[in-house]
Amino acid sequence: MREKKVDHWVNDSEFDDEIGCDNKMNPRQRFYFDHAATSWPKSEKVLHAMIEFMRDCGVAAGRGGYRSAVEADQVIALTRKVIASLIDAASASCISFHANGTTALNVGIHGVIRNGDHVVVSAAEHNSVLRPLDDLVSKRNLRLTVVPVGAEGEVDADRFLAAVEPDTRMAVLTHASNVTGSLQPVAEVGRHLRETSTLLLCDAAQTFGAIPVSVKDLGVDLLAAPGHKCSGGPLGTAFLYVDPNLHDEFQPSVFGGTGSQSESLKMPEEMPSKLEPGNLNVPAIVGWSAALSELPDLKSREIQNQSVAAMLREGLRSIDNLKVYAGEGPLPVVSLAIDDLPPSDFAAILDSEFGIEVRAGLHCAALIHSCIGTQEVGTLRISASSMTSESDLQYVIDSVKQVTQEVTGS
Ligand SMILES: Cc1ncc(COP(=O)(O)O)c(C=O)c1O
Repeated sequence: MREKKVDHWVNDSEFDDEIGCDNKMNPRQRFYFDHAATSWPKSEKVLHAMIEFMRDCGVAAGRGGYRSAVEADQVIALTRKVIASLIDAASASCISFHANGTTALNVGIHGVIRNGDHVVVSAAEHNSVLRPLDDLVSKRNLRLTVVPVGAEGEVDADRFLAAVEPDTRMAVLTHASNVTGSLQPVAEVGRHLRETSTLLLCDAAQTFGAIPVSVKDLGVDLLAAPGHKCSGGPLGTAFLYVDPNLHDEFQPSVFGGTGSQSESLKMPEEMPSKLEPGNLNVPAIVGWSAALSELPDLKSREIQNQSVAAMLREGLRSIDNLKVYAGEGPLPVVSLAIDDLPPSDFAAILDSEFGIEVRAGLHCAALIHSCIGTQEVGTLRISASSMTSESDLQYVIDSVKQVTQEVTGS
């Protein structure tokens, strides 16, 4: 729980009128349970780092030779190194920065897919994987196999691997579902695929910063994650990991200036420059760097997450007439449904009556809902963080119980 600060984020009342934003006028307590979308609040250290960078340095990275430009370069290089070390990458050159997880995943997919390739995905993937692949089905004759998931959105490793053919170019598996929090068997799949020529791309959007994520342990060739979720960075941050064995053949999919080899109309061959055209979001990466410096040991964070997840699941499962869709893993992400109450109405009641901020609908995951039986209207998703207090968890459980009882008359 946190008192909402009514200080301006846009100090312009006309703007507020235009967008109907009354947050400044009606401060209230916020119970934020939408961490699977983005983490909030960001720490004071993150906020200060961003403000200080923009006030005292504020220049583009990778372009100038003057002192401030070198400082901007240094912070980018440092952040790259920190991420490489956190995920056990062989070198910082394996890490490229992107505007969000979606872009990182798109760059990863387009970097390796060729005409007529076969790709295997799970039905639990996010649209940031499914949409670019679907586009390639029509534009590049891609053959796509979607492996269904179980009732809690979990992938069965054997079933997934059975869909991989000798010439399958790539398998894509999310590390955890953003709908049910189910942790997927990426390491098991990675172990088997290592013996084959099939590449493995992991979407670690829901796990990077929440539990240990090691590209070695997972056996992945590519891994993408935003910085604005569990690792506590600001929006506008993400990375893509590309295994060194792929660096030479990896194809850029966005083209433009890199601050290097400007005489050439071709993208530089070097990684990560060939994947980073255009200015990087240096203020956001500075904030992300500050967030990464505050990350605790990820094994202990996993334990914290596990206890938050267990309390949330158990509390919600004890409510009569409430359907709960949740994996057993360490992530506090849970989907809910009540018969006769659309998730959007459920979310609106929690927001207006209890100050609880949650998300309703399909959660940008088009295919998982037909596997878990929520394809009509989706679910209400409650997502906490490792730092959510017991009292806030109890408050959300009690509030959901009250709404459920009122709606179902139980
Ligand atoms: C599992 C998963 N993959 C990818 C993404 C896309 O990340 P971004 O919102 O940073 O583009 C999300 C975001 O919600 C996600 O939950």
